[in-house]
Amino acid sequence: MMTLLNMQPSPQPDRPALKLAERTEYWMPPQASTVAEELDWLFFLIYWVSLFSFFAVVGAMIYLIWKYKATSRAANEQPEPSTDHNTTLEITWSVIPLIAVIGIFVIGFKGFVNMRTPPKDAYEIHAIGQKWSWAFKYSNGQVSDEFHVPVDTNVRVLISSKDVLHAFWVPAFRVKQDAVPGRYTDVWFNANTAGEYVLECAEYCGTSHSDMLAKVVVHEPGGFDKWMDEKIKLEEAMPPAELGELEYGRQGCKVCHSIDGTRLTGPSFKGLFGKQETLVGGGTVTVDENYIRESINEPQAKVVAGYPPSMPTYKGQLSDKRIMGIVEYIKTLK
Ligand code: CUA
Repeated sequence: MMTLLNMQPSPQPDRPALKLAERTEYWMPPQASTVAEELDWLFFLIYWVSLFSFFAVVGAMIYLIWKYKATSRAANEQPEPSTDHNTTLEITWSVIPLIAVIGIFVIGFKGFVNMRTPPKDAYEIHAIGQKWSWAFKYSNGQVSDEFHVPVDTNVRVLISSKDVLHAFWVPAFRVKQDAVPGRYTDVWFNANTAGEYVLECAEYCGTSHSDMLAKVVVHEPGGFDKWMDEKIKLEEAMPPAELGELEYGRQGCKVCHSIDGTRLTGPSFKGLFGKQETLVGGGTVTVDENYIRESINEPQAKVVAGYPPSMPTYKGQLSDKRIMGIVEYIKTLK
């Protein structure tokens, strides 16, 4: 964080209100990163070349079908002597497309190499995907369920997954990369337009794949550090149950555990504390502080009967303070 502080101009006190980028475009999402413009340009080049080729080929075909149609059976059986070879024509229709394809390849390859090579000074953020939410971890250990980045800054995202394949996709930045369990993948970008955008999971990953979204916030100069400072201060002063509520949202608990009694992938948190639950394979357990703690660290140890054993472990990812917060939050949901 400190390096960023030094990299940016002084904070602007009256930052304009962030506006969620409209997603009503017929064609393309907004261009909010340094590569977007060139990438779109190449996309449309290929698009128009393809469209031109399509009409040229199909047009010529229709014209020739019409021109050389047989006028009678006799004419059909005794075709006019014709040339079957035209070297000039063949060279022309081979060389022109070849030049076009080489041109497209060179531009595409240069863009690909650029997009696959993160600058050395890039600020790193971890993006961790799981069924069905994203968590973003910053270099100071702070975690958020929103993806915050500073404007005009090279950012490298280290992507991983806790369970199955997901994909990190920010359409406005034109970056997309698979999140693969058991290894890191990465992307980098430089967001050049402050505002709010959408991050989507772009790899089918189960029931709630389409809900696996996150808000992307590109901050004006100084805004990122300000957001981080406020976040740290807020969490330090927070009562445990409130901190738990915050974690409930950003760790993805809410995806599978409702707070109003609705049955989702996991048991609802409503009225859960103190309840007697039957376990898979028999036996019962009373939901107390230790059971909740165990279920966060080793979710498969005691699974409640009737629910799939699909929760990922949070072992080593949540401090004691945060686990305690979640316990206290569940206690409030009577
Ligand atoms: Cu995660 Cu689709």
